Order: sequence, then structure tokens, then C-alpha cells
Amino acid sequence: MPSPYSMVNKRINTPTVMAYVKGTSQSSAHDSPPRQPALVKSRTVDSGARVVARNVGRRFTTASGSVDACVDIDLTVEPGSFCVVVGPSGCGKSTLLRMVAGLDHPTTGTLDVSRLDGRAPTNAMVFHGRTLFPWLTLQQNVAYGLKLSGMDRNARLARARELLGMVGLVDFQRAWPHQVSEGMRQRTSIARALAVNPDLLLMDEPFGALDEQIRYLLQEELLRIWERTGKTVIFVTHSIDEALILADKIVVMSAHPGTIREVIDVPFPRPRFMTEVRSDPAFADLFTTAWSILREEVETGGAFTEGTA
Ligand SMILES: Nc1ncnc2c1ncn2[C@@H]1O[C@H](COP(=O)(O)OP(=O)(O)OP(=O)(O)O)[C@@H](O)[C@H]1O
Ligand SMILES: [Mg+2]
Repeated sequence: MPSPYSMVNKRINTPTVMAYVKGTSQSSAHDSPPRQPALVKSRTVDSGARVVARNVGRRFTTASGSVDACVDIDLTVEPGSFCVVVGPSGCGKSTLLRMVAGLDHPTTGTLDVSRLDGRAPTNAMVFHGRTLFPWLTLQQNVAYGLKLSGMDRNARLARARELLGMVGLVDFQRAWPHQVSEGMRQRTSIARALAVNPDLLLMDEPFGALDEQIRYLLQEELLRIWERTGKTVIFVTHSIDEALILADKIVVMSAHPGTIREVIDVPFPRPRFMTEVRSDPAFADLFTTAWSILREEVETGGAFTEGTA
């Protein structure tokens, strides 16, 4: 298995990703007063958080022994960039995301999440599945984090309305989660994550449970939101197609225990549109490159047995 350093050298196209990380994220010596959310803004050079992991590993100790979820993760995600992580099941993608979010901690190496201006970075996570509070309306779900931050009622409901408008759900603000479709719930989850105006958006297979057409629409919607807000995004998916449409760079992880096998720079111009990306001649080449690496890892990881095509 190549070292993370050799992987960096093997990056395809022009790289900008790099590696580093450390420690516990979300900490900064410079506490700042709460910032007012300002979703609709133009991107700025210093927007978003920077994530740097260096030799990060996470070992879990269980009753049956210890498990290395990931090892030697060496990665840098630049502020305002869109990083997509792909890899075989069980290679540590969710574990890595949880560590970046500060919900878990590395057992080796260092992981650092920071802002260029030194202020403490904030993050929000979006998962797949039912993550909305069923006893709150869509608007109340989106406003929930703002309530916790102390924003007054009228302001937070207005803000929630604005965000629901951004994801095309303003007419459903008073609906309960069970009254809307899975795609609408997922859009609400994204609006809820954006409500707190995070510097870093962490998305763990957010569209995994959706049908293909809705998934395409949400991918483009996410791209438009990201272009407007300038957040740093780390997005986990099993779909190479999705990765190529969204990413500035794709981090391909090895089979369990996961480390970075390759970083692929995605050259398609922005703003991106799915049909244009897919009709770009480079799309097929990059897809083939990513799949050939992933296939090797999936087969190495034992997900397929001999004789599987
Ligand atoms: N809390 C835990 N205790 C023990 N082992 C864990 C824990 N969390 C994760 N693991 C192990 O770490 C490894 C990586 O798990 P993780 O959920 O990060 O994988 P993943 O890449 O997100 O997989 P998937 O694509 O299936 O979601 C797995 O072997 C898993 O069993
Ligand atoms: Mg996972």
C-alpha cells in the first residue's frame, strides 16, 4: 500500500490538495462573537475553513480487539473548495468526517480545522436518512440551530423562510417532515445545515437514499448554493459520477483500514452543469481512472468474491 506521501505525488492533473491535519478540530485560540448568518453573499478569498490532516489515524477498541478505521490520512482541504471522498464500504470515510466535525478524535496524527482570519471555524453536518425532528415543521427544523444560538424568534423564522426558499420549499414551510417527500426532507436538512452559516459543510452520503432524478437536481442545487456561499465542503459518496460533478478534488481511499490512495483533481470549469460535465471528453477518462483505483480497492477489501465481473 503506498504511503500517503507517495499518494500526494501521484495526484492526477494539477493538484491543490494536500495533506495535513491534526489535532482536534473546531478549536481556535481566537474566540469571536457570534456572526450573523449571511447566506447570500459573494464568495470571498478567505471564505470557508481549511482542513489539514497529517498522519491521522483512528483506532477503536472493542470487546473483540482493536480496529483501525483509518490510518495515515494526509490531506489538505483549502478554504472554499469542494472535496469529495470516495472509498469502499468500511474504509473510514464517516469516521474521518466525524473527526473533522470534532465529534470524534484521532488516535494518531494531527487534525486541524481553521479559518484564515484566525477566528474559530464552525461546521455543520448533513447525513442521509431521517434526520429532521418529526415534531417540528420544516421551518422550525431549519430554525432550530438558530434558536440554540440565541437568535430571536422573528429573525430566525425569517431566516428559515429565506433558506427554504433557496432550496425551493418555501411553500412547504409549515409542513411536517412526514408530509413531504424524501428529497424534500433532504433539501430541508441542507437548509438546516446552512442556517447556522457554517464555515465547513460536512456531508455524509446526503443523497444516498434518493432516486436518481432527484439526486441530479439536488446535486445542481448544492452546486449553486456552494457557489453563492463559498463554504468549504467535504462530501462523502459512493458515486464516482457524483464526485466528478461536484468536486474540485476527489480523495480516493483504500480498502479497510482506509488511507488515501489517490487525489484526483477535477478540471471542469465552474459554474458546472451536469449535462456539460458529462459531455466533456475528460469525464470518461476521469471516471475510468477513479473506477480502476476503486475497483482494485473494493476487490482487495473482499467485497467481491472470485468470479465477480
Ligand atoms: N464506534 C466504533 N467502534 C468500533 N469500530 C468502529 C466504530 N466506528 C467505526 N468503526 C469501524 O471503523 C471502520 C470504518 O467505519 P466507517 O463507518 O468510518 O466506514 P465508512 O467508510 O463510512 O463505510 P460506509 O461506506 O459503509 O459508510 C469499520 O470497520 C467500522 O466497523
Ligand atoms: Mg459511512
